[in-house]
Amino acid sequence: MSWEASAPSNIALIKYMGKSDPNSNRPSNASLSYSLENLRTNVLLKKLSNSQVDTWNSVVSEKIPEAGKTKFLKHLAMLKERFDVRECFEVSSENSFPHSCGFASSASSFAALTKTFFLALKSLKNQDVTLQQMSALSRLGSGSSCRSFFSPWAVWQSEGAESVDLPYKNLIHVAVVIESVPKEVSSTEAHRRVDTSLLQKDRGFRAERRLESLVSLMKDENWKGCFETIWQEFWDMHALFETSFPSFGYMTPDSLSALKILKEGWQKDGDGPWVTMDAGPNIHLLFRPDQSMLLQDYQHRLGQFKLLVEGSLRNV
Ligand code: PMV
Repeated sequence: MSWEASAPSNIALIKYMGKSDPNSNRPSNASLSYSLENLRTNVLLKKLSNSQVDTWNSVVSEKIPEAGKTKFLKHLAMLKERFDVRECFEVSSENSFPHSCGFASSASSFAALTKTFFLALKSLKNQDVTLQQMSALSRLGSGSSCRSFFSPWAVWQSEGAESVDLPYKNLIHVAVVIESVPKEVSSTEAHRRVDTSLLQKDRGFRAERRLESLVSLMKDENWKGCFETIWQEFWDMHALFETSFPSFGYMTPDSLSALKILKEGWQKDGDGPWVTMDAGPNIHLLFRPDQSMLLQDYQHRLGQFKLLVEGSLRNV
């Protein structure tokens, strides 16, 4: 018997950075994300008849770092214990997007594992859980994964995420791939270290204010106002990194050159994509479907960089 499910990655426009409870990945502030339907992880769980332990499929196993694999099996063990599942499984996990882009995507992989586990639970024990419960349980493995259960918009306050009805449901995602090497400071370490920044003291206030204003700007379909709020928000998070002790950062000279092109574009055109960055050097852009000409322009303007347009590589 086997079970298979996939989940999308998501990009936060209001960021989750800092934890009020590190053991259960409770966030210091609310966050808002857009799901990235073309950046997905597919997980397959195969029931093992002669094993007392969960294992990795040997073919996919080679491509995944040891620490990542251990964390994944730990999450599976936690779910099994909670729901008293005694069966053991072989785990396979594969991303739909190229490995060369440096998107580790713990969000899509933990959401997909959690979803697949609950398919198995349904068929092994005829037990159901709600999407909200799934999201809250996925959070225990990877915080940001709890938002990957709701498309396209998800808001996460504390336990698990929930769906939120907002305009701009069909945005086009472009990633400017700056660097694909593993980062020196993991996001787990970043969450820990930002607590040493004096800026973190009022971070909750700033994030909540921005969330409120972004939702209202979106409802008014004020695209430019949204861009400004989203721009301020990722710089706020990167300022937390630089003002932590010890200080750290993810932006490279190439990240800064690409940001300069994007900022000058907005100044020249009075229009442009939404721009954000996670805890890494890559840049995420979101275009409206009616901006397809502008998107073509940006493929030229950013021609020196590798681009991932809706999950497919360009400019390589
Ligand atoms: O889920 P984690 O622990 O990998 O944290 C991710 C945090 C950011 O990606 C930097 C921001 C976010 O809200 O997704």
